[in-house]
Amino acid sequence: MYLSRVCGYGLFVVAWLCCSSLLIDAQNLLTNPEEVKALQAIKSSLMDPYNNISNWDQGDPCTSNWTGVVCSNKTLGDGYLHVQQLHLLRMNLSGSFSSALGQLSNLTILDFMWNNISGIIPKEIGSISSLELLLLNGNQLTGPLPEELGYLPNLKILQVDENQISGSIPKSFANLNATKHFHMNNNSISGQIPSELSRLPSLLHFLLDNNNLSGNLPPEFSTMPNLRILQLDNNNFNGSTIPSSYSNMSKLLKLSLRNCSLQGPVPNLSQIPNLYYLDLSLNQLNGTLPSDGLSGNMTTILLSNNSLTGTIPTSFSDLPRLQKLSIANNSLSGSIPSSIWQNRTLKAMEKLTVELQNNGLSNISGPINPSPNVTVWLQGNPLCSNSSLLQFCRFESDENNSQSSTNTTSVCPTQECPPPFEYLSSPASPVACFCAAPLFVGYRLKSPEFSDFRPYINAFEEFLSSGLDLFLYQLYIDSFFWEVGPRLGMNLKIFPVYANSSTTKFNMSEVDRIFGLFTLWNMDISDIFGPYELISFPLQGFYRDENTNSPSFGLSKGALVGIVLGTIAGAVALSTVVTLLILRAHIRKYHAISGKHRFSKASIKIDGVKDFTFEEMVVATNNFDNSTQVGGGGYGKVYKGILADGTVVAIKRAQQGSLQGETEFLTEIELLSRLHHRNLVSLTGYCDEEGEQLSLKNH
Ligand SMILES: *[C@@H]1O[C@H](CO)[C@@H](O)[C@H](O)[C@H]1NC(C)=O
Ligand SMILES: *[C@@H]1O[C@H](CO)[C@@H](O)[C@H](O)[C@H]1NC(C)=O
Ligand SMILES: *[C@@H]1O[C@H](CO)[C@@H](O)[C@H](O)[C@H]1NC(C)=O
Ligand SMILES: *[C@@H]1O[C@H](CO)[C@@H](O)[C@H](O)[C@H]1NC(C)=O
Ligand SMILES: *[C@@H]1O[C@H](CO)[C@@H](O)[C@H](O)[C@H]1NC(C)=O
Ligand SMILES: *[C@@H]1O[C@H](CO)[C@@H](O)[C@H](O)[C@H]1NC(C)=O
Ligand SMILES: *[C@@H]1O[C@H](CO)[C@@H](O)[C@H](O)[C@H]1NC(C)=O
Ligand SMILES: *[C@@H]1O[C@H](CO)[C@@H](O)[C@H](O)[C@H]1NC(C)=O
Ligand SMILES: *[C@@H]1O[C@H](CO)[C@@H](O)[C@H](O)[C@H]1NC(C)=O
Ligand SMILES: *[C@@H]1O[C@H](CO)[C@@H](O)[C@H](O)[C@H]1NC(C)=O
Ligand SMILES: *[C@@H]1O[C@H](CO)[C@@H](O)[C@H](O)[C@H]1NC(C)=O
Ligand SMILES: *[C@@H]1O[C@H](CO)[C@@H](O)[C@H](O)[C@H]1NC(C)=O
Repeated sequence: MYLSRVCGYGLFVVAWLCCSSLLIDAQNLLTNPEEVKALQAIKSSLMDPYNNISNWDQGDPCTSNWTGVVCSNKTLGDGYLHVQQLHLLRMNLSGSFSSALGQLSNLTILDFMWNNISGIIPKEIGSISSLELLLLNGNQLTGPLPEELGYLPNLKILQVDENQISGSIPKSFANLNATKHFHMNNNSISGQIPSELSRLPSLLHFLLDNNNLSGNLPPEFSTMPNLRILQLDNNNFNGSTIPSSYSNMSKLLKLSLRNCSLQGPVPNLSQIPNLYYLDLSLNQLNGTLPSDGLSGNMTTILLSNNSLTGTIPTSFSDLPRLQKLSIANNSLSGSIPSSIWQNRTLKAMEKLTVELQNNGLSNISGPINPSPNVTVWLQGNPLCSNSSLLQFCRFESDENNSQSSTNTTSVCPTQECPPPFEYLSSPASPVACFCAAPLFVGYRLKSPEFSDFRPYINAFEEFLSSGLDLFLYQLYIDSFFWEVGPRLGMNLKIFPVYANSSTTKFNMSEVDRIFGLFTLWNMDISDIFGPYELISFPLQGFYRDENTNSPSFGLSKGALVGIVLGTIAGAVALSTVVTLLILRAHIRKYHAISGKHRFSKASIKIDGVKDFTFEEMVVATNNFDNSTQVGGGGYGKVYKGILADGTVVAIKRAQQGSLQGETEFLTEIELLSRLHHRNLVSLTGYCDEEGEQLSLKNH
C-alpha cells in the first residue's frame, strides 16, 4: 500500500537539523552533483600524463581527497558541499578547458598555473560570480580574452600571463571594480588599451608587457586612483607620445615603457613622490631631460637608446638609492656632473652603475674618482680623447648585469643528513647544523622596483618570513637569478621550526598553511618588491606521501572533518523540523525509466516514522503561504508549519533545478535518518506525493 502510493506520487520526509552547530561525519556528506559532473567533464578534457588527478573518479570530490579540490567546510543552503578552490599548479596537464568550469558556481580560486593547457579560455568562467583569483598563467592558451570575464564582481587577480592569448582587451574589463592585478604579459594581445579601464578603482598593477598592443597610451590612466605599476615594454605604440598627464600619477612606483616605439619628450615625473623605477629605453624619445629632480626613492633610471639631446641635469645627483642610471646611446652633450656618483655614500652591498656611452659628452665637472663600488661607462664620447679619462672609456663586457647568486655557505658535515633532509646552517638558527626536511619553493618577483637585489636581500628575508609568519632563520634563499622582464627568480628553502632534535619536519597542516599563503595572495605586497608569483611548490619524500592522504591540498583536514551542516536561520528556533524536498523533475524522469530500483525507498523506511500526505503539508503551511516562510536560498524555501496534532515544524521545499540525483537524495535521507544527536530531530514521517518529497523529524 505504502509502496504503491509512494510510487504514484513523490513525496517523503527526511530529517533536518534544528541547530546550526551540529557536527556530523564528513564522509556522509556529498558534493553538489552538478559540480561533480563539472569536475568529471573538466578532467575528461585534460590530459594527465603523471596521473596527478587520476583520483578524480573515485568517490566524492569533497570527501575523497580529490587532488587540488578544496570545498566549503560546511554544506551551503542546498545541503551540499561546494567546490571553492581548484589548485592544480604545475602538474604537466595538457588538453583544453571544459566549458563545464562555469558550473563551479561557488568557486573562488581557479589555479591552473604552469601546465601545458591549450585551447581557449571558456567564456563560461565569466558566470562564476564568486571567483576571486583566476590564475591561468604559464600555459598554451590561445584565442581572445572572453568579454564575460569583465562581469566578475569579485575578481581580485586576473593572471593569464605567459600564454598565447590574442585579440584585444575587452572594454567590459572596465567593470572589474574589485580587481587589483592585471597580469597579462607575454601573450599576443593586440589593439588599443581601452581608455575605459581608467575607471578601475582598485587596480594596482597593470602588467601587459610583451604583447602586440598598439594605438595610444590612454591619457586617462592618470586618473586611476591606485595604479602602482604600469609595465608595457615591448609593445608597439607606433610613434605616439607618453601622455603628459602621467606626471600626475601620484601613486606610481614603476613606469616601464621600454621598446614601445614611443616618440616625443620624456615627461616630467618630478611630482610623483614615490617613483622607484623608470624605464623608457629603446624608444625614439627626443628633446631634453627634465631638469626637475625625480623621487628620492629612484633606484633605476633607464633612458638609453633614444634621441635625447641637451645636457645631464645635476638633479640626477640627489638620488640616495640610485643603483643604475643609463642614458647611453643618445645625443647628450656638455659636461657630466660627477656629483652623480661623488656624493653617494654607498652602504655595504650597494653598487651604482652609470652608463653614458655613445653620446656627445665633452668633459666631467667636479672631482672624478669614483668610489670602489661605482662603475662609470663613458666610451664613445668626445671626452675619451682626454687621456686622463681613459680608465672610464674602456670597452669591457658589462660585468654581471644579470647577477645571480647561489648560496653555498654550508659549514655542516655532508654525510649524516640523508635526503630529503638537509642541514639548516643559518647563523640565526638556534642550533647550528640542525638536520631537517625543508620545503622547496620556486618564487619570482614579477616586477621588482630595483635593479640590484643585494642591498635588499635582508629586507626581503624579513618581508617574506614575516608574511609567512615564520622565524627569519626558517627561510633560506638558496639562489636567485634575473630573468628577462626583468623578473627576479628565486629558489627558496623553508625549514621547520627548531624545537628539539626530534622536530625535523613540518606537519601537513603547516605545509598547507604555507602553501595557502603563497597561493591565496594573502600576504601584503610591498612597494619595493612588487607583485610575486609562486613558480613551484613540489612536495618531496614523505611530504608527498603524506599529502596523498590529505583531503585536499590547501585545506586542513580538521576543516573537512568538522563539517557543519548548514541550517536555515529562523528554523533554528523551532523544536521540530521538517524538511520538504521537492524532486518533481527527477521523480517524473525516474518514473519514466525505472520503476524497480526506485525503492530502495523501502530501505529508508524507519521505525516510528510516519508518512504524510502532500495535503497535510499544504494545510500545515497554509498552502505554503509567504507568511509562513522562515528562510530560503538557492535550494528553495523553508516554511514554518503546524501539523494537525499541533507540532511545530519547519519544512524545506527544494526548487526544481537545485535538485540532486535520486541516489544522492536517498543517500542523504538515509544519512539524516541515522543521525542521533540532541540537536537533531529524529525522523518521524515522510511523504511522497505529487512529485514532491518531504521528511519530518521530532526532537
Ligand atoms: C604529479 O605526479 C608526479 C608523478 O607522480 C609527481 O612527481 C609530481 O610531484 C606530481 N605533481 C604534483 C604537483 O603533485
Ligand atoms: C613536466 O613539466 C615540467 C615543468 O613543469 C617539464 O620540465 C617537464 O619536461 C614536463 N614533463 C613532460 C613529460 O612534459
Ligand atoms: C553558490 O552557488 C549558488 C548557485 O549558483 C549561488 O546561489 C550561491 O549564492 C553561491 N554561494 C556563494 C557563497 O557564492
Ligand atoms: C606541451 O604540449 C605540447 C603538445 O600540445 C607538447 O609538444 C610539449 O612538449 C608539451 N610541453 C611540456 C613542457 O609538457
Ligand atoms: C563600479 O564602481 C562604480 C563606482 O562605485 C559604480 O558606479 C559601478 O556601478 C561599479 N561597477 C560595477 C560593475 O559594479
Ligand atoms: C621630436 O620628434 C617629433 C617627431 O619626430 C618632432 O615633431 C619634434 O619636433 C621633435 N622635437 C624635438 C624637440 O626635437
Ligand atoms: C620612498 O617611498 C616611501 C613610500 O614608499 C616614502 O614613505 C618615502 O618618503 C620615500 N622616500 C623618499 C626619499 O622619497
Ligand atoms: C656634493 O657634495 C659636496 C660636498 O661633499 C657639496 O659641496 C656639493 O654641493 C654636493 N653636490 C650636490 C649636487 O649635492
Ligand atoms: C663594495 O661591494 C662589495 C660587495 O659587492 C662589498 O663587500 C664592499 O663593502 C663594497 N665597498 C664599498 C666601499 O661600498
Ligand atoms: C645565504 O644564506 C643565509 C642564511 O644561511 C642568508 O642569510 C643569506 O641571505 C643567503 N644569501 C643569499 C644571497 O641568498
Ligand atoms: C582521505 O584522507 C583521509 C584522511 O587522511 C584518509 O583516512 C582516507 O583514507 C583518504 N581517502 C582516500 C580515498 O584516499
Ligand atoms: C570554515 O571556513 C570558514 C571560512 O571559509 C572559516 O572561517 C571557518 O573557521 C571554517 N570552519 C572550520 C570548522 O574549519
